[in-house]
Amino acid sequence: MAATFTEAVQLKDVSYSVDGQEILKHVTGVFPEGKITTLVGPSGAGKTSLFRLINGLRAPSSGDIFVQGKPIEEYNPVDLRRKVGVALQSATMISGSVYENLALPLKLQEKQLAEEDAQELLDLVGLKEDTLDQNIKDLSGGQRQKLSIARTLVNRPDVLLLDEITASLDRVSQQDIEKLIVKINQIYQTTMIWITHNLQQARDIGDYTWVMIAGEVVETGESSLLNNPSTEHVRQFVRGEDS
Ligand SMILES: Nc1ncnc2c1ncn2[C@@H]1O[C@H](COP(=O)(O)OP(=O)(O)OP(=O)(O)O)[C@@H](O)[C@H]1O
Ligand SMILES: [Mg+2]
Repeated sequence: MAATFTEAVQLKDVSYSVDGQEILKHVTGVFPEGKITTLVGPSGAGKTSLFRLINGLRAPSSGDIFVQGKPIEEYNPVDLRRKVGVALQSATMISGSVYENLALPLKLQEKQLAEEDAQELLDLVGLKEDTLDQNIKDLSGGQRQKLSIARTLVNRPDVLLLDEITASLDRVSQQDIEKLIVKINQIYQTTMIWITHNLQQARDIGDYTWVMIAGEVVETGESSLLNNPSTEHVRQFVRGEDS
């Protein structure tokens, strides 16, 4: 899609509380259009909660979120979900075939996925075409994750939110997924926001990085910031003393 803006997602002073507990505190920042931004921070920092706000599953307690320049609350939820895709560590699937899982986003819109398009997607993510009829339960963890990513692409999202998608994979499968994310970013210019606990991955694959600690964004910038953090808190986190 031709872009006339530079910010795919923008947050202005966003806070989010649940039952009086402040989960996100005054988060301000941008996720640049067409770039890969990695999001790191200790467990409980609020990374997944931030995703729930960006894809409209939850509303902030205060502050503003813009997706491609438009306030998030002005989107029809179906349009927002099409524009902002999500892939999770669990790569949740329905029982049935690979094709049935791939076709699910369109089925929910009462549309069909052409077999040709399904095969093209499998090819893109590096799954063999004869996988299409395979039962989902016969896939490896890495194959499931590739399928999960292919499924998010069915709607041609402009923004992809990836939450710990390589956390449960072996090193080879992790590298496969890393290459795939870079490839999708290059082919479709999809804006990627990638939560990962793997700091090397955050540094190598990210153009930009956000570091969150205890509900706050403490550092943002080019991913090389992880080599030389400017705050003691992030230095500790990078050294592994705070993860
Ligand atoms: N629905 C909820 N109700 C109550 N507390 C919640 C809810 N969702 C998240 N939290 C709390 O918000 C904080 C941030 O959680 P979140 O899952 O966003 O962290 P995270 O950075 O994704 O952590 P991890 O790296 O472990 O996935 C945690 O203290 C968590 O217990
Ligand atoms: Mg999380």
